[in-house]
Amino acid sequence: MSARTSSTPSAEHRQRGARAAFSTSHRRLLALCHQLEEFADALPNRLDQARCGKVAKTMLPLLKACHATEERLIDGMDASRKRKLAASIVRLMSEHLRDQYFAEDIVEALGQVSDDESSPNPEAFGFMLRSFFETQRRHIAFEQEHIVPHLPDQPQVSGQ
Ligand SMILES: [Fe+2]
Repeated sequence: MSARTSSTPSAEHRQRGARAAFSTSHRRLLALCHQLEEFADALPNRLDQARCGKVAKTMLPLLKACHATEERLIDGMDASRKRKLAASIVRLMSEHLRDQYFAEDIVEALGQVSDDESSPNPEAFGFMLRSFFETQRRHIAFEQEHIVPHLPDQPQVSGQ
């Protein structure tokens, strides 16, 4: 591995291929969705406080890191593909911002469960969780169908 490759922002892309890096981001987000669905299913009385506290700490950094990876990989796409996908890319980027915004509310509610041994209004909290992970899964399915196939699936060598 060259010094240039290891120090550039798209090193992951060059090492593993953009398609694999994007799919890794999706796997991490789908695992988060699975965890949030378990919380929703555990309402109103079976929430695991320790797990809620852990997710409250890790959810937003995870979301931001995955979005940053995806946006960097999209930014590195071939220019003509980016032009063809421009409308979808704008929508997906705005969905990333929206998801981070709504995640802040979920983090706050999870922190409340963790700290107070109480749950926010179970119906409202359940709706919040389900809205988030269902929307997230649709977003990921769209990216898998319409973005990932346009990314290079082979590691890129320096200079490409
Ligand atoms: Fe995304």
